[in-house]
Amino acid sequence: MQRMLFSPLHIRDITLRNRIVVSPMLTYSAERGHVNDWHLAHLAQFAAGGAGLVFMESTKVDPAGCSTPRDTGLWKDDFIVPLKRITELIKRNGAVAGIQLGHSGRKARRSVPWEGRVPMAHCPGVDRGEEWELVGPSAIPHDPKYAVPREMTRDDIREVAEAWGEAARRANEAGFDVVEIHGAHGYLIHQFLSAASNQRTDEYGGSLENRMRLAVEVARQVRKYWPEGKPLFFRVSAVDETGWTIEDSIALAKVLRANGVDVIDCSSGGMSDGAVASECAPAYGYQVPYARQIRAGADIMTMAVGMIVHSDHADDIVNTGSADLVALGRELLHNPHWPIDAAQKLGVESPFSGIPRAYAYFLEKRSKSNFGTPSTFQTGMRDDKGGE
Ligand SMILES: Cc1cc2nc3c(=O)[nH]c(=O)nc-3n(C[C@H](O)[C@H](O)[C@H](O)COP(=O)(O)O)c2cc1C
Repeated sequence: MQRMLFSPLHIRDITLRNRIVVSPMLTYSAERGHVNDWHLAHLAQFAAGGAGLVFMESTKVDPAGCSTPRDTGLWKDDFIVPLKRITELIKRNGAVAGIQLGHSGRKARRSVPWEGRVPMAHCPGVDRGEEWELVGPSAIPHDPKYAVPREMTRDDIREVAEAWGEAARRANEAGFDVVEIHGAHGYLIHQFLSAASNQRTDEYGGSLENRMRLAVEVARQVRKYWPEGKPLFFRVSAVDETGWTIEDSIALAKVLRANGVDVIDCSSGGMSDGAVASECAPAYGYQVPYARQIRAGADIMTMAVGMIVHSDHADDIVNTGSADLVALGRELLHNPHWPIDAAQKLGVESPFSGIPRAYAYFLEKRSKSNFGTPSTFQTGMRDDKGGE
């Protein structure tokens, strides 16, 4: 059966084999910005599991922008060669390799989640042990527990936009085919967008147009270095806790589209530590309406994300035109082979095509047996003993 979720998507010169995307997820496993075998194994498994596009976690364009000391980095050329191993393996397993590029601004310098995700006091920087300074659009902390950031000068702003561009150049040299600019979750670009965190009186603050200026300059810098034929995504918090609205996101998406952005990845929130899932338990697909509204309002491709768990729901999101792509986070941590499972559940013809032969051959045989049906175990009627 033909299913939209498993139809290819062409964006510029890149073709994704299906619409399933591994959402960028920090794993807090790098050392001074450097990736290691963990990242290789972690990311390659998703490609072997059948995803169309595998995003590497939010990788920082500047050491001061690391959310924790264990973030991955792309602020210098030394990072390129180890990343190449990762992109090559992702591609060999049939997926497209993407990377999210970010800067945490005033939300930088926190401990890793399993150590409480608490703001850290003065401590050495991630790269060379230099003093780790927090910066932001204005000298306003994320919340009272956090340090007050230094208000960025115009030179700082120009340099950070250029750092995004340089990181995109390195991402290209490392073999990535998609870049996503992280403009969401209360991090630096989002801090500029929100009137609550940005109280500047220069051309980067005040009006919506001024607050969007950094986002646009980053998109332009990235496009300057990122090849014309390769797609550029931008993650927004479509709405947030400080008054940023879906209409603001639609306005931003229109400007970004005019500046070379191809896909808006539609998340939400991140401006407050209080608004967490446990307080307002989000429902399945709780952010899908944002993807639908931005897609219709700004005439741009969108990616839906957030508690997309069931294959028929994911297919429906694409099929009904709510989004062009669906991104899964925690569900893929739970089952990195979710796309293979989804293809079978949705009755896709040749559900194993495109995944590595070493899996496809045996899974094909398995699917033709009565493997896994409850009565099989009770009656011992399995007709496929595996063979090897
Ligand atoms: C462990 C973990 C790490 C995350 N790291 C990032 C990140 O690096 N960048 C980002 O934009 N979102 C990050 N997120 C958010 C996810 O990309 C995703 O938007 C969110 O988990 C909702 O999708 P889900 O319900 O499928 O998990 C992270 C989420 C988790 C669970």
